[in-house]
Amino acid sequence: MSRLFAKRSSGRSVGDLDPEQIKSAVDDYSGLFDVSVEQRKDRYHSVVNHYYNLATDFYEFGWGRSFHFAPRRRGESFSASMLRHEHFLAEQLGMRSGMQVLDVGCGVGGPMANLARHTGASFVGINLNAYQIERAKRHTRDIQSLCRFIHGDYMNVPEDDDHFDAAINIEATPHAPDKAAVFREIFRVLRPGGGFAGYEWCLTDAFDPGNAEHVRIKQDIMKGNGLPDIAHTSDVSSALRAAGFEVVEARDLAVESDSETPWYRALQGRDLSLASIPRTPIGRALTNMALRVGEQIRIVPEGSREISTVLNAGADALVAGGVAGVFTPMFYYLAVKPGGAED
Ligand SMILES: C[S@@+](CC[C@H](N)C(=O)[O-])C[C@H]1O[C@@H](n2cnc3c(N)ncnc32)[C@H](O)[C@@H]1O
Repeated sequence: MSRLFAKRSSGRSVGDLDPEQIKSAVDDYSGLFDVSVEQRKDRYHSVVNHYYNLATDFYEFGWGRSFHFAPRRRGESFSASMLRHEHFLAEQLGMRSGMQVLDVGCGVGGPMANLARHTGASFVGINLNAYQIERAKRHTRDIQSLCRFIHGDYMNVPEDDDHFDAAINIEATPHAPDKAAVFREIFRVLRPGGGFAGYEWCLTDAFDPGNAEHVRIKQDIMKGNGLPDIAHTSDVSSALRAAGFEVVEARDLAVESDSETPWYRALQGRDLSLASIPRTPIGRALTNMALRVGEQIRIVPEGSREISTVLNAGADALVAGGVAGVFTPMFYYLAVKPGGAED
């Protein structure tokens, strides 16, 4: 737990804030969910930055360096499934040494580090959150020559047209205020013939907007995960086409995973290993208790437990959304920018 709140020189995280600032950050963040979807979309920079300033250390502590879900096969470990889910995108895009790949919303660099090591391709990661960029640089020190970072907004990528050979988006554009607009921007910076593959958080056909429980699950997922809204799977395919992409494949990988090991299993606490404990309900409750004690004896900043409570509610809502089948974090698509030598 000590690394969780270590002081840092730049970037803003809980370790950089005094108790009043943490309380005010949590209040500001919560307030963003008392306004309309449109107002929240207008303030997406605040939603994303508040959320990841507060949540990044908890994610790294409880989940690791790759901030996404993965469908698990029978007998497969959590970490093996995460890596396979990343490698799958590389295979679909034919990723190899010499290619220039954009990682849209690169988190703390876990997936791009894994893929750079695996394929030898060169990556540019763009991320709105300064603290995560700082973490990503640290995590990719051993492969610096293949990893470059841009602290910026994927709605406005500061790169030339037709620049990249491929782009990946691992659960990053659920935060976007306008899906077609972010896909248009990715389309612009891809070369003709370039591929774009990703995993999107979506509502499924089972989601009923007239069902109060479904609506509550959606709200809690949004608030617990820093999202302005959640799109339906069909909206994602439509937005890709509206941006100009040819959609080669689009399907929900959640329904293809083993029923014994659904993607939300890690949050349910059915796996008993030391490493998995922080992800489980008991582990999350223990972390919460440890934070309360830590706050009292002043070894962690006051307000930390409040953050952990918001994240836990979000995790419980993800499990509820998965169990009810109304939500998926792995709507997979492969899209291509028309043109290029192949056409
Ligand atoms: C769920 S995390 C996924 C991170 C990474 N792809 C991974 O799988 O580890 C979503 C990421 O999107 C980034 N993000 C959200 N909105 C963004 C924006 N407008 N521009 C750039 N990055 C953004 C967040 O800062 C965060 O790093």
